Amino acid sequence: MQLCHSGGLLLPPTSSLRPRLRHLRPSPCLPQAQEKGGGQGLQEGDLDLDFSVPSWVEERNQAFASSLKGKCILAPLTKGGNRAFRQLTTEFGCPVTMSEMAYARGLLKGDRVEQARIIPAVGVENCFGAQIATKTIEEGVGAAKLAKESGATWCDLNVGCPIKDASRRGMGAIMLRKPRSLAKMVNGIVKESELPVTVKIRIGAEKVNVHRVVALLARTGAAAVTIHGRTMEQMYRKPADWSLISDVVAANPGLPIIGNGDILTHYDASRRLSESGCHAVMTGRGALIRPWLFKELQEGRELALSAEDRVHIYRRLVALMKEQFGNDEWGRKKAFYFFPWHFSFFHRYRPLPEEVYGEASRNYPLMITRHKKHDDGETLESLSLLERLLRCSNEKAHGEIAAALWDAASDKDAIISLEKLASSELPVWEAEEAGREPGNERSSRDTKTGQDDGVEG
Ligand SMILES: Cc1cc2nc3c(=O)[nH]c(=O)nc-3n(C[C@H](O)[C@H](O)[C@H](O)COP(=O)(O)O)c2cc1C
Repeated sequence: MQLCHSGGLLLPPTSSLRPRLRHLRPSPCLPQAQEKGGGQGLQEGDLDLDFSVPSWVEERNQAFASSLKGKCILAPLTKGGNRAFRQLTTEFGCPVTMSEMAYARGLLKGDRVEQARIIPAVGVENCFGAQIATKTIEEGVGAAKLAKESGATWCDLNVGCPIKDASRRGMGAIMLRKPRSLAKMVNGIVKESELPVTVKIRIGAEKVNVHRVVALLARTGAAAVTIHGRTMEQMYRKPADWSLISDVVAANPGLPIIGNGDILTHYDASRRLSESGCHAVMTGRGALIRPWLFKELQEGRELALSAEDRVHIYRRLVALMKEQFGNDEWGRKKAFYFFPWHFSFFHRYRPLPEEVYGEASRNYPLMITRHKKHDDGETLESLSLLERLLRCSNEKAHGEIAAALWDAASDKDAIISLEKLASSELPVWEAEEAGREPGNERSSRDTKTGQDDGVEG
């Protein structure tokens, strides 16, 4: 058996092989087990950790993993991954959805807002992961139990969140600083949970240590590990490191790995899946920008939606929100925590046909390349007013667009209102926008989600 691979150790997924590994220690490979990016591979003493994984966990994991194979999963998205939005993606064929992150402690205390986060749309989200943030086995087990009761298919542990609120509680990506403690916690939760347990990580906190973390997690009984190919410190400033993700996949053949980062188009998704060897891939911002991405992936082509087509889809989201929150003032108030915010991603839609952008996407992620209104021969004047309005990045525009869509009785009404709005307000909004670009465009940071979704400088 090959023991060293791309800086990591090949560890058998089953506990039955542990004695052989013990026998091999200390491995001459260990000192050279440098990770790409400067981190360390498995360290002396890591193999001493005695994880027991009952055979029923392994059987359960296999059945669960086969349900994810080859799929493109909707990422957990605080605020964005509200139930109505998730349901919208399933209508475009999204096969696997995930909840927003919920704090285990809040769930166990009966916090209704936290509890609402992990409830799937009944009969719609048929493979649904409830994402939990915790740092203890006890709370994790309790939260997994609640996730099962709320109808989740599996429980995902958040070990990737970079926001201060999570870090100061000792949760999220900073847990990557202590891979052994993390692995012990995961193993403890896995053994007591009635649901399969997965873990979502980044490639490191400050330093890249993903090989070591994944090699440890592979022994804990985790059913799969999602790797977002950036460190906690990088936030979104660098392209996700898919070559590192591929290396980790190759080093852990027994563990299903879900690759994540910068998937914006159907051809990004197919290419990442085939080239990385990942078990599945995951998209976050790509789905927020084009919720119909899953249909494009199924059909292997871009849908090339007009502004009017998109108005129809955004109004479908309104309808789903009205169903969830109610079609009254109270419902509107609740929905408007989410709905205008969605336009901070919707406005980034641009047609990206593979024939034109396929090659460029190989060289640099289209997710990071911001396309201006007049890319590729398009002039501002060549776009309809409606198209220009839907592409406007101005926050005031997002509020007004959301209101017009909510209040309209039909798509036709909505288009009329939006065109009126564009005629009167667009010049001002575009002028304000122009003050920020080009060159002046700063990375935008959502203070509520802490997602720094910026452009690399
Ligand atoms: C608005 C927003 C909210 C997010 N919320 C969560 C979350 O609750 N839990 C989590 O693990 N990751 C969260 N993420 C990170 C995504 O799940 C994903 O890992 C990251 O965006 C990289 O994938 P992408 O390049 O496809 O967007 C969030 C990302 C965004 C943009």
